Amino acid sequence: MMKRARSWWNKNGKETPELSKANIPQHVAIIMDGNGRWAKQQGMPRIVGHQSGMKALKRATIAADDLGIKYLTMYAFSTENWTRPKDEVDFLMRLPVDFLAQELDELIEKNVCVRMMGYEENLPDHTVKALREAIRKTKDNTGLVLTFALNYGSRSEITDAMKAIAQQIESGDLTTDDITPDLIEKHLLSKDLPDPDLLIRTSGELRISNFMLWQLAYSEMWFTDIYWPDFNREHLYEAVAEYQRRTRRYGGLK
Ligand code: FPP
Repeated sequence: MMKRARSWWNKNGKETPELSKANIPQHVAIIMDGNGRWAKQQGMPRIVGHQSGMKALKRATIAADDLGIKYLTMYAFSTENWTRPKDEVDFLMRLPVDFLAQELDELIEKNVCVRMMGYEENLPDHTVKALREAIRKTKDNTGLVLTFALNYGSRSEITDAMKAIAQQIESGDLTTDDITPDLIEKHLLSKDLPDPDLLIRTSGELRISNFMLWQLAYSEMWFTDIYWPDFNREHLYEAVAEYQRRTRRYGGLK
């Protein structure tokens, strides 16, 4: 069993000045980018980068849990990633299976609740089966909510929400006046999640790539040149420290 890393502020029995326990982002969403470039840098095939990316995902989960982050949402596969070579897609689809085979017991022990955000259709049976099992076994857990965004795309999600609402109007169950941001949110794949407070993207790319377009409206963003497989606890602390230096105004003045 892995030794549980101690919380940042508990290291010496007191809170460090860098991070305030009172202002930990509730929901952190991460675009895990740079696996391929990391592998290339090592002279390795791309899948080795994804394999190492899986280890980084584990590190990030434990570190987020230790920090007291309540929701961690990881962009693991987008609706656009199907255009990659079949071998790479097949490998990526096996990663949740391997990850959960290796880590589910520890996630359960840590009271983590696993969820998925994305379209099940098109996913291979083994991927769906592993995810469903993890979701079922952890559904009553009250700790960190770890969501895999898998076969997720925000434009599809918003389009589907619009269609569902339009159908309810057509059937007379709703009127146009019933359309509110709240109603739209209830039709998004993220309906059980609060909006992310902090978005992290690795690998130096400065874009959102069809990830949680609606939900990121007022999120703070933190970008790093680090490739995802190199991401560790210290980078998460750095991102949270930067988050704590920001003043969130939500369009207001304060
Ligand atoms: C982007 O890097 C990364 C992905 C498309 C896959 C992310 C998946 C993981 C980190 C592992 C997920 C693990 C589980 C358990 C779901 P890239 O391949 O686009 O890198 P590049 O831009 O350098 O080519």
